[in-house]
Amino acid sequence: MITIALAKGRILVDTALKLRLGGLELPADVEDTRRLVVADEEQNIRYLLAKPVDVPTYVEHGAADLGIVGKDVLYEKSADVYELLDLGFGMCRLVVAGPEHTDLSNVSRVATKYPRYATEYFRKLGKQIEVISLQGSVELAPLIGLADCIVDLVETGRTLRDNGLVVLAQVAEVSARLVANRRSYQLRSTEVDHMVSRLRTV
Ligand code: PRP
Repeated sequence: MITIALAKGRILVDTALKLRLGGLELPADVEDTRRLVVADEEQNIRYLLAKPVDVPTYVEHGAADLGIVGKDVLYEKSADVYELLDLGFGMCRLVVAGPEHTDLSNVSRVATKYPRYATEYFRKLGKQIEVISLQGSVELAPLIGLADCIVDLVETGRTLRDNGLVVLAQVAEVSARLVANRRSYQLRSTEVDHMVSRLRTV
């Protein structure tokens, strides 16, 4: 049996669609279920439904052979896994955002769920920043003066708009990736290759 860790949340609907188009039989209720492990006995596949940020951890430690997760999480966690495929969905942008006319050369405090991205982006600009680490609703920070700007994901742009913030710069483009545990990639290469070719052709 091969085990695949899937990221719950926003990305799960498109993940399930992609897997089904690739010919995999996911349970009909996979997007709604509270179960954390669902099995497809016929195709010998077990799915773990994990928090996105934990998917690289499950794969790195071999609890899952494969994982599907956003590039943002993958880079931020810098997990020791193989990145096999850009799956072409879950497209969004990681940006610096803040009040209009914010001068990036005057920024000193940056709120984010992505400390690594934020630090590296501003280091490349030659700026040392103080990272304010938040777990969500990051857009709140510049509104109340906790930070000068944020580094965060933008998908539709609605959260920024509704809070009077604008994109100041782009940090990275993000999409969903298929990743593999290093040992599984070598020891279970037939199953892994099979999965890659199924998902690549969709
Ligand atoms: C993400 C992201 C932005 C928002 C962007 O947060 O951090 O806040 O979505 O999406 P939009 O451009 O379509 O408005 P998420 O909804 O995952 O929740 P969180 O703020 O609790 O992390």
